[in-house]
Amino acid sequence: MIMYSLSQKTGAALVAIGLALALVVAVSPTAFASPLSPEQLGLIDAADPARADGKAKKCAKCHGDDGVSDDPEVPHLAGQRSSYLLKQLLDFKADSREGGRMNKTARKLGEQEMADLAVRFSNTVLPTSGAVTVPAEPPQVAAGDAPCADCHGNDGKGKRDKYDAPALAGMPFDYFVMSMQGFRDASRSNDADAVMREAAKPLSDAQIADLAAYYLALGQRERLSPP
Ligand code: HEC
Ligand code: HEC
Repeated sequence: MIMYSLSQKTGAALVAIGLALALVVAVSPTAFASPLSPEQLGLIDAADPARADGKAKKCAKCHGDDGVSDDPEVPHLAGQRSSYLLKQLLDFKADSREGGRMNKTARKLGEQEMADLAVRFSNTVLPTSGAVTVPAEPPQVAAGDAPCADCHGNDGKGKRDKYDAPALAGMPFDYFVMSMQGFRDASRSNDADAVMREAAKPLSDAQIADLAAYYLALGQRERLSPP
């Protein structure tokens, strides 16, 4: 009788553990719907882009008017996805991404201010340079172990999924190359699940340059500096 009740208890405990495990497995894909927490995503819902107009003028010194950069080593903020911009500002503030002056700049911003700025720049359209011929699609875009388009979209505009990948279309050539090299040598390591470090690992400099030229042209923009 004692044996029976013990095994019944053990059985019940095993069922409970099994249920708990099943719950974790069932819940985790949605729980990780973004590298940002629900609270941080809430800052975007509560954002007021007009509130960021004053601060945005300070960003113009390096990122250009309205976040359209004219420096090949500085990314555009215009048209970039707001949740991605917010994540980067949080990462600079926490020093989990090294970005020179950006770390100091981000430390001075409150989290709601960051979200206001992120939405303000995200709402600004990145203008095109006119008719630009898009080169042949490099093989890594749609094939291999880490096809870029799976996360960054076929149009290069990024995707709202569990990785929340940024837009690449129209990105300045030099900044694109620097970013890829940073992921390749892991000097940039703020990518969730190391997705970009894995994607960049097998790439040569020539392959990175082809990808940079492709994505720049996909955004119908011209290179900001000569090769
Ligand atoms: C002194 C120049 C400078 C100023 C001022 C500046 N930035 Fe930056 N920012 C940079 C540079 C350079 C990078 C690229 C850093 C790197 O990857 O090494 C960058 C990167 C970023 C990124 C990451 C973008 C991406 O595609 O990953 C965001 C977001 C950003 N800046 C937002 C801002 C905002 C908002 C302001 C104003 C409050 C601002 N920056 C002011 C120079 C500046
Ligand atoms: C599994 C998803 C995934 C795949 C596959 C992937 N990326 Fe990314 N990529 C991301 C995410 C997420 C980030 C942003 C990481 C962060 O800073 O939080 C990113 C960032 C980048 C950046 C830096 C953008 C910026 O503004 O600083 C570049 C450039 C880039 N990816 C290019 C590529 C290329 C080229 C490929 C294909 C060879 C590729 N990615 C494949 C998810 C992916």
